Amino acid sequence: MRKRSPKRLVIVSNRLPISIEWDNGKPRARHSSGGLVTALGPIMRQRGGLWIGWPGSVDKVDLGRLIPASEKPNYGLRPVWLTSDERDKFYLGFSNEVIWPLFHALQTVCNFDPEFWTMYRRVNRKYAQVAKRHAGKDDYIWVHDYHLILVAQELRRTGVTGPIGFFLHIPFPAPDIFVKMPWRREILEALLEYDILGFQTVQHRRNFIQCLRNVIGDVGLEGKGHVLRLKVAGRRISVGYFPISIDYDQFASEAGAEAVSEMARNVRQQLPDRQLVLGIDRLDYTKGIPYKLDAFRNALLRYPELRERISLVQVLVPSRADIAPYHDLKIEIDRLVGAINGEFTKSGWIPIHYIFRHLDRVELLALYRAAGIALVTPLEDGMNLVAKEYCVSSVEEDSVLILSEFAGAAVQLQRHALIVNPYDRDGVADAIHRAYHMPQEERRQRMHRLRRSIQDQNIYEWVDDFLLAGAASAPRLPATSKPVRKAARR
Ligand code: G6P
Repeated sequence: MRKRSPKRLVIVSNRLPISIEWDNGKPRARHSSGGLVTALGPIMRQRGGLWIGWPGSVDKVDLGRLIPASEKPNYGLRPVWLTSDERDKFYLGFSNEVIWPLFHALQTVCNFDPEFWTMYRRVNRKYAQVAKRHAGKDDYIWVHDYHLILVAQELRRTGVTGPIGFFLHIPFPAPDIFVKMPWRREILEALLEYDILGFQTVQHRRNFIQCLRNVIGDVGLEGKGHVLRLKVAGRRISVGYFPISIDYDQFASEAGAEAVSEMARNVRQQLPDRQLVLGIDRLDYTKGIPYKLDAFRNALLRYPELRERISLVQVLVPSRADIAPYHDLKIEIDRLVGAINGEFTKSGWIPIHYIFRHLDRVELLALYRAAGIALVTPLEDGMNLVAKEYCVSSVEEDSVLILSEFAGAAVQLQRHALIVNPYDRDGVADAIHRAYHMPQEERRQRMHRLRRSIQDQNIYEWVDDFLLAGAASAPRLPATSKPVRKAARR
């Protein structure tokens, strides 16, 4: 029998870091997009372990053969294959037409189809079965994100008693929104089957505890700081907030590489004598892209001197295109970009450059480097790692971050970013104007502090923090690089 190293980390998430794309009937592997994969990738590369998830295709392929040898990860990948019915009702349906909009406080977008719920339970059981089959008794199972809330409950049903952790990458909504969920009690009870629950911000944790009080009953809390012990309905678990981050050193060093510098220079040369304002978002209605475009137009109207001096480069990464609101959003954005460009374009100047595709790493970093201003204005966001990536890539420390107050990242970055309400088109226009005119020295000071703050709380701090918090209550967790302390850190 294969010998397992003790306390191996087993990550279970809906999506694997590799996604299969079909091009003219041929499968191709590409890096998955989204904050979860960006954050967990470096951890797995550093620690090794096993990652269980869906490769994004309903047609099975041999992953091992598709991934080029140079890109093979040093950890295990275990695919969970979904049928097309499972993809439609579990991934597109319950995950992305119920939980995603509801947890981002957009309940009018929800489609509470009971069939979705039935399938959500069934597919969570399927993930639990794969986890049970491939995780040893000394392994630590760490489940991620809203697609897989029921996995611990399913594992418990099959007799798994060891510690299981859960981290929610998206917001947890306020009680008045959460109670709209027809299966609210089932969702909360399932979350209580984990030993530790991690949220992005103190507000999301507060919302969760308030929801427990409203739906389940009395909640006892012990401790203080970023991890509390919670007692409810006979269960005792830890609940904490752990703002997720990125691999600072890796990003900073890749952003400074010659290939990136050269591409950034090319971008600047193609758009000379103007400042680039950069937006990079997955195509998603939570990212507030139409509001952003409207605010950019407003900036050109309110401050005519900005015309011909700034251009918005808006990158949209394709996502969940089979869901009607995503499809409609794309049409709306195409129309808005066309209308704004039609209204303002002059010979030699196009206000909005619009890219709709996945970027490779060098292109992404070059755009971060080339843009003097980033416009990150989600309507609601668990964290938003684009904001952090942009700052860390600003190796010259001469750029400005404009950030929505409704992104989790604002808690950490608010002192040195320009914070805006994405619904306030005058406020966003004013922030663009202010950023454009911001003196070099102020830019440097702000960006320097933003980068230091991200460096101090990088992704390795984050994983250690989570594992330490779990280890305080459950000793069988993978070793961290820090000694175990019971006291809270923040
Ligand atoms: C967000 C979620 C992730 C998800 C990502 C991309 O960041 O928190 O769990 O993987 O979006 O979305 P997709 O539907 O393509 O997996």
